Amino acid sequence: METRQYVGPIEWVGKMIVPLTDRGEGGPASQVTREFDVELVRGNEILRVSACGLYRAFINGQRVGEDVLTPGWTTYDARLSYQVYHVAHLLKEGRNTITIWIGDGWYRSPLMWMSERRTEVWGTEVSAIAEIRSGEDFSKVLVATDEHWLSGQTPVRKSQIYFGEIFDATFASRPREGVRSIVFDTRKLILHECAPVRELSPLDPIRQWRDTDGRTIYDFGQNAAGYVRVSIAGETAGEILIEHAEILDERGEFYNVNYRSAEAISRVQVNERGLIDYSPIFTYFGFRYARVTASDGARITKIQSVPISSVPDATAGFSCGNELVNRFFENAIWSHRSNFIDVPIDCPQRDERLGYSGDAQVFAAAACYLADSEGILTKFVRDLMVDQALDGAISHTSPHVVRMKPGNRKQRGSMGWGDAITIIPWRLYVHYGNEDIIAEAFPAMVRWIDFAWSLTTDGVVRPPNTPGMRGYCLGDWLQPAGTEANPLPTIGKDAIATIYLFISLTIGTRVADILGETDTGARLEQMRSAVETAFRREFITASGRLKHDDQTSYALALLHDLVPPELVEATTDCFRQAIGRTGGRLGTGFLGTPALLPALSKVGEGHLAASVFLQEEVPGWLYQVKRGATTIWERWDGVLADGTLFDPDMNSFNHYAFGAVCDWLLESVAGFRPDPKQPGFEHIIYSPTIIPELSPVTAHYDSVRGKISADWTVVGEDVRYEITVPDGTRGTLRLSRAHLEPVVDGVSVDAGREVVVTPGHHVVTFRLSNHGR
Ligand code: BGC
Repeated sequence: METRQYVGPIEWVGKMIVPLTDRGEGGPASQVTREFDVELVRGNEILRVSACGLYRAFINGQRVGEDVLTPGWTTYDARLSYQVYHVAHLLKEGRNTITIWIGDGWYRSPLMWMSERRTEVWGTEVSAIAEIRSGEDFSKVLVATDEHWLSGQTPVRKSQIYFGEIFDATFASRPREGVRSIVFDTRKLILHECAPVRELSPLDPIRQWRDTDGRTIYDFGQNAAGYVRVSIAGETAGEILIEHAEILDERGEFYNVNYRSAEAISRVQVNERGLIDYSPIFTYFGFRYARVTASDGARITKIQSVPISSVPDATAGFSCGNELVNRFFENAIWSHRSNFIDVPIDCPQRDERLGYSGDAQVFAAAACYLADSEGILTKFVRDLMVDQALDGAISHTSPHVVRMKPGNRKQRGSMGWGDAITIIPWRLYVHYGNEDIIAEAFPAMVRWIDFAWSLTTDGVVRPPNTPGMRGYCLGDWLQPAGTEANPLPTIGKDAIATIYLFISLTIGTRVADILGETDTGARLEQMRSAVETAFRREFITASGRLKHDDQTSYALALLHDLVPPELVEATTDCFRQAIGRTGGRLGTGFLGTPALLPALSKVGEGHLAASVFLQEEVPGWLYQVKRGATTIWERWDGVLADGTLFDPDMNSFNHYAFGAVCDWLLESVAGFRPDPKQPGFEHIIYSPTIIPELSPVTAHYDSVRGKISADWTVVGEDVRYEITVPDGTRGTLRLSRAHLEPVVDGVSVDAGREVVVTPGHHVVTFRLSNHGR
C-alpha cells in the first residue's frame, strides 16, 4: 500500500494531557491510553506524538517506531519536537488501543552537578499529546488525546537522566484512572528537526570476570553512550542491578567515581515467570564496563551493550600507516556518536551531559565530516537562539538549565563558548552549502557580537575575573599547566576573548556580505578592524612575540591572520620556540587545540605539526590511545603516566573537543576542504601535507555532492597522490613549492602552480624536497 509522506504542520486537535497517576519527579512513569475503532485501514494512517517528558508509544501492544529518547531535548518552554510515524501496519479493523508511556526525561529530571542541581527545570507535570490521522491530507482524526483517555502506572518505577532506571517486570498495569488536559500552546510543537536517536548494532562482551564480592564485570570493548540490554531467566523472584563504568582503575577494578553524583544504574525486578528482555526506556549512560549484581532468582542468559546516537553512520574515514592514529580517528567517531544525543553534549556519563556551546563549536568542523551533523547542529543553533539573553549573551549550555530561574545570570556570556552562535552556523553553511541557517542566525550573531563588544575597552575584551559575572570567560579550558616548578605560560583571558571576538566579527562581516546586509556589515567591519588594531597593539610585541607566549596564543593569532604580514615569520619563530619549550608536546586546551596543527600547517610548519601530533607522551593525542582509550578523553592526563587516574572531579573519558584534530587530518593531511566562496563542496581545494611516517594515507568524505577521496603514498622521496572529485563539482589542486616536479594525470606542471581538476579520478605525482611535506 502507498504511504504518502507527511509534510505537516496541520493544526492539532489533540490536547496535552496529564496522567492522574503521575506522582511527580522521581516517581513511576505513567501511561495514558485509549481504545478507538477503525472502520477501514487505508494504509496512510500516521501518528503524531510528543510529550513533556520522554515518551514511548504502543499501538495494540506493539511499539511504534524504533526511535529512542523521544521527543528529544529542546528549550521546552519555547520549542517541543514531535515525531510522525506511519502506523497502518499496527492498526486493525475494529477496536484498537493506543498507549503512551511517559517518563521524567530531561523535562523534569534533576540536571547539573550537585552544587548547581536543578529539578523540574521545565515543569512539574509530565504530559503527552498525540493523534492518529488518515485521509488524503491527513484531515481525518481517528483518535486524539483528550479528557477521555485513561491513565495508569507502568513497570518503570523510576527513571531519570542521571539516576538511571528501575524496572519491575512483576508490575501489572491496569490503567483505571483518568487524565487532565492542560493549556498548551501547540504552536510550540515543531516537527523533529534532526534524525532521531537510534540504536546502533549491539556489542557483545569481549571479556567477563567476577570481582571479590561475586559481582560479574563485563567489558564490551568500546566506550559509548547507550545502555545494557539483558535477557534474564527468572527462576524465583530476583533482581538484577547494573552499574556502569568507563574505565578500570590502576588495580584493574571497576571505577566510576568520575560519574560524580550520577548514580547511573539500571535495576530490574523479575519473577519466576521466565525470560524477560530489558533495556532502559527513559535514560542512557556513558560506559564501556557493566557490573552486574544478580540476586539468587535471576540469571542472565544474554547481555549486550547497545550504543545509541543521533549520528550513527560515519561519513568520513581516515587510515594511515600508524595504527595509533587510525584508532584515534575511530575514537573521535565514537565520541562524536556518544555525545550527539539529540543535543551536542559534553559527555554522556557524569552529572552533566549538557549541550555545551564551547565544546560544540570547537568540534563543529570535525563533526560535519565524521557524520551528517547538519540537522542536530541546526537544531542546537535554534536552541541557542532561544536561550540568548536580552543583552545578547549566549549560554554555556543549551537547552539552558538555569535560564528559567528569574534573575539568574549564570552560565552565559563566555567568549569561546558563546561564539558557537557565529561559528556553528558558518560551518554548517560552508560544509553543507545551505544559506538558510546563516540567514536565520544572523540577528543572534549580531546581538552576541554587540554583547562581546560591550565587554571591550579600546577594542580589547576585558572579561571580569569572578565566575558567574557577566562576560566571565572560561578561557583555554584544560590547557596543560606544566609542573609546579615550571608552570607553562597560559593565554590571558583578555587575549583569548579578544581573538574570539575577532573570529566572530570575521564571520559576521562575511555573513552580512552574503546576505546583502550592507549597513550592519559596515558596522561589523569597523569593529573588526578596531579589534585587529587593538590586538596587535596590546598582545604582539614589536619583535613578533605574543604577550602570553604560549602555543594557544600563537596558534589562534596566526590561524586567524591577527599577526601583521611583516611579523609572521618572526611570530612563527616564537611559535616554534613555544613548542620547543614543552619538549615538542602540545600545550593547548579546548580552544587552542583545534587551531594548533592547522596553524602550523598554514605557516609552512607541516613537519613540526606532524611531530607534535605523532609524539606519544602526555600531553598528546596518541598518549591516550596507547593507554587503551576507545573514545576521546576530556583531559590530556585523564590517566597519569604512572597509570593512576586523575582527580575524579573532572575526568571524563568521553569528551570530543580534542578530537577536533580530525578536521586537520582530513583537510590538511589528506588535503581536501570546502571553499567558503562556493560552499557545500561545490568547489573543493586539494592540498595535502605529506608526512612520510603516515604513509600510506587513505581518506574519504561522503559530502552532500558525493564522495570525495584523497590517498597518498610515499616511497623514498616520491609521492603518489590520488584524488576523486565528485560529479557536478570543481576541484583545485594546490601543491606547495616544496612538492617538486609535479605531474598531474601524466602532464608536468610548474611546482607551486594551481591546477583545475575536473570531476573524476586524478593521479598526481611529485617529489619531496628535504623539508617538503
Ligand atoms: C564541561 C566542559 C565545559 C566546561 C565549561 C565542563 O564541566 O564538561 O566540557 O565546556 O565545563 O564550563
